[in-house]
Amino acid sequence: MQSRELVKNQAYVDGQWVSAASGKTLDVLNPATGEKVGEVPDLSAAEASAAVEAADRAFASWKKTTAKQRCALLRRWYELLMENQEALAQLLTAEQGKPLSEARGEVAYGASFAEWFAEEAKRTYGEHIPSPSPTSRLVTILQPVGVVAAITPWNFPVAMITRKIAPALAAGCTVVLKPAEDTPLCALALAELAERAGFPAGVINIVTTADPAAVGDTLTAHPLVRKVSFTGSTPVGKHILRQAADTVKKVSMELGGNAPFIIFDDADLDEAIKGVLISKYRNAGQTCVCTNRIYVQRGVQDEFVKRFSAAVAELRVGKGIDATTEIGPLINTKAIERVESVVKQALDQGAQLLSGGQRHEAGELFFQPTLLGQVNEQMDIANQELFGPISTLFVFDEEEEVIERANATPFGLAAYFYTRDIGRCWRVAEGLEYGMVGINEGIISNEVTPFGGIKESGMGREGSRHGINDYLELKYICMGGV
Ligand code: SIN
Repeated sequence: MQSRELVKNQAYVDGQWVSAASGKTLDVLNPATGEKVGEVPDLSAAEASAAVEAADRAFASWKKTTAKQRCALLRRWYELLMENQEALAQLLTAEQGKPLSEARGEVAYGASFAEWFAEEAKRTYGEHIPSPSPTSRLVTILQPVGVVAAITPWNFPVAMITRKIAPALAAGCTVVLKPAEDTPLCALALAELAERAGFPAGVINIVTTADPAAVGDTLTAHPLVRKVSFTGSTPVGKHILRQAADTVKKVSMELGGNAPFIIFDDADLDEAIKGVLISKYRNAGQTCVCTNRIYVQRGVQDEFVKRFSAAVAELRVGKGIDATTEIGPLINTKAIERVESVVKQALDQGAQLLSGGQRHEAGELFFQPTLLGQVNEQMDIANQELFGPISTLFVFDEEEEVIERANATPFGLAAYFYTRDIGRCWRVAEGLEYGMVGINEGIISNEVTPFGGIKESGMGREGSRHGINDYLELKYICMGGV
């Protein structure tokens, strides 16, 4: 790292940089080398609860600020994020492992939510409703929900935070955020820049911990928390939904996926291969919207396998900090052991190894970009989120058949397909049971469009003009005696 200026070793609560009362800390390791990048406090459930109380006190005045004031602070935060893009990207690569070029992209993507919601803060319009009575007037207004608990994952340690915090602050809510244990340093760097931007004490709180279950349960069950926003696995999401039920909190859930990527025989094969490579191998396959199942129409199967295996074999694996790296390490030992066992099980169940399949010589947490052929839906690998650099190939014959097979999963986050037939574009996009569909595109995320899933992939939308709604309550006011 060129600079350690943004590397904090304390959590951020009520406008103060704090250590754990117990003195306990948690080491943050570089997944590419195993070296220590920094350490953060291991806060307890009681300390998380104190952060919620601080956020609740701050809410009393923050909710009264004007949209213009909140816009100015968010805009300043955006500028500071971009001014510090390189330092943040280096920190991100150090604690998370992704290639530096992807980390730079993630910082810009993350910053774009601060910019976008600075603008949206000023557009939370209510409405006037024509009254059925001559003596009353009817209006609606939108008001902030209150204290928000945000729980974020390690795969996008900048963007998944700003995608939640920015709309919450724009709406007039205050936030307590628990970052993932593997990647808390980016969260603290974001808080440092928010402090420099001028956000008042208690409006943003970052609670780091080595005990995510206890701290997470405290946040998601706390009576002062009115809204929970979570990005992570479906099993944890279900647990949080149960936790939040007792106090009937508002919830947003961005959960797991099982994205199909369908290549029809009329597709531009070169473009389809580019699309599937980026969609599958970005962040070493560790995103919720990564391609999970590649469906190739029989007519182009042989040509696709030939060209795609050649492209996979050329992917450069290495430390994220090296300029030529395209695939970095997996996040931790548990992740690589899981990927190894998923591949082994698929091979035991009859899949064909076309390339990779083992740990990579670059280091303990590196896995070879892997391609498995002859996969079918009866195999376990077809029915789970891979979260690693593994491609699985399925063959299909008919359009209706592939839509049915693509939909045969409890998940419904993202789906992709490549075709040049305009009628098919509409039929397939409408037929796929997913919250987001990419047609002739492998990367579809940005700040201006709604990100989110259906079925067991979650509820609520992040980004876009819809992303602020989950942080607002709609109030109806009836004025009589006119
Ligand atoms: C995710 O994996 O949860 C986010 C991916 C994205 O925003 O593109």
